[in-house]
Amino acid sequence: MTKYRWIKHAALATLYSNQKGPRTKAAMSDIGFIEDGSVWIEDGIIQAVGTTAELEKIYGQKEAEIIDAAYCLVTPGLVDPHTHVVYGGTREKEFEMRLEGASYMDIMNAGGGIHATARMTREAEEEELISQTWRRLDSFLAHGVTTIEGKSGYGMNWETERKQLQVMKSLQKRHPIDIVSTFMGAHAVPPEFKGREDEFVDLIIEEMLPAVAKEKLAEFNDVFCEKDVFTPEQSRRILEAGKTYGLVPKIHADEIVSYGGAELAAEVGAISAEHLLKASDEGIEAMAKAGTIACLLPATALYLREEAAQGRKMIDRGVAVAISTDCNPGSSPTTSMPLVMNLACISMRLTPAEALTAATYNAACAIRREDMIGSIEKGKQADFVLWNVKSYQELQYLFGVNHVRSVWKNGVQVAGGL
Ligand code: NIG
Ligand code: FE
Repeated sequence: MTKYRWIKHAALATLYSNQKGPRTKAAMSDIGFIEDGSVWIEDGIIQAVGTTAELEKIYGQKEAEIIDAAYCLVTPGLVDPHTHVVYGGTREKEFEMRLEGASYMDIMNAGGGIHATARMTREAEEEELISQTWRRLDSFLAHGVTTIEGKSGYGMNWETERKQLQVMKSLQKRHPIDIVSTFMGAHAVPPEFKGREDEFVDLIIEEMLPAVAKEKLAEFNDVFCEKDVFTPEQSRRILEAGKTYGLVPKIHADEIVSYGGAELAAEVGAISAEHLLKASDEGIEAMAKAGTIACLLPATALYLREEAAQGRKMIDRGVAVAISTDCNPGSSPTTSMPLVMNLACISMRLTPAEALTAATYNAACAIRREDMIGSIEKGKQADFVLWNVKSYQELQYLFGVNHVRSVWKNGVQVAGGL
């Protein structure tokens, strides 16, 4: 029997627009707001959106489960387009070391950082990784996130990269959250390849990428293009090779130093470039021209005590901006997209409406899911959040607090109380 659900009396931020594709400039401010909004859902799919009075006329006689959203902001489920959610162990010692003055790259170059997590992830059993990741996914849901991207990259050998990707596949089947997978074999050069970096790049290109494609383990291919990690040339080789297997490029670009990552993202047709703290003006220009989405990670900048990316400038120059937690055990151990929205406003001067677009529709575009999620509109998955605030401005203004009242995935409540 068809199951009907009916949201009534919401302060409804639909994020609907008749223009498709990543939103730029003024379009990032248009959140498709409906006062006293209403949504009609059939079997987990949105069938109609309008004012409560309009939907009353059409569906008033039908029996449905009523979701009373009076005095609540309702938004699409948040989308986190950049996480390293599958990992073994934690790195709280490094947090202390950084507070005492060590830099992120010093720690990594001394065998800590990504290398430390790689050792712990290599050692962890698949089941152990599943149960650790499960708890993080629950926390994402509790913060209003209904879809995330997840990267491998803590193996840097095929066995462990594969294990991470399998964990995501298995969680995709078992946990309510949707996970979109990215292969990131090029996250660091493992110690066994020190001094033979190009050989490691060859291994990724000749063995890992074909295996990812053959086993259909990922949709995207990401590289940490950074001084002392992978050069733009090495990154280009890996990303171009991935394209031949249908893997869409993403790049960790210009995070620590300005290194031509934004320019490379535009050149190789990456769907998004990540971090961009040190992106050059030319790089920003090139991304705007190429339509590369800037995936900005203000929680990472804060956690590393760095100046945030120039989000305001990027939007003004015509770049489509998405935001993300970057959830990982080193530079951003958080699962809170609401905090990331707050920070997008506070440290990058996005407006509350732009921050919401960046965490929903544009984030969906960054993982190529905008046809099914990212806005509340007819035909899309009924993924949405009821918030204990009355406006989207209030959501961004009351900061560092989780305002989730309830979270719904495919029309079913999956987190929060009512
Ligand atoms: O996006 N910068 C590279 N990768 C991650 C951090 C990974 C880690 O420190 O474990 C990032 O910040
Ligand atoms: Fe990252």
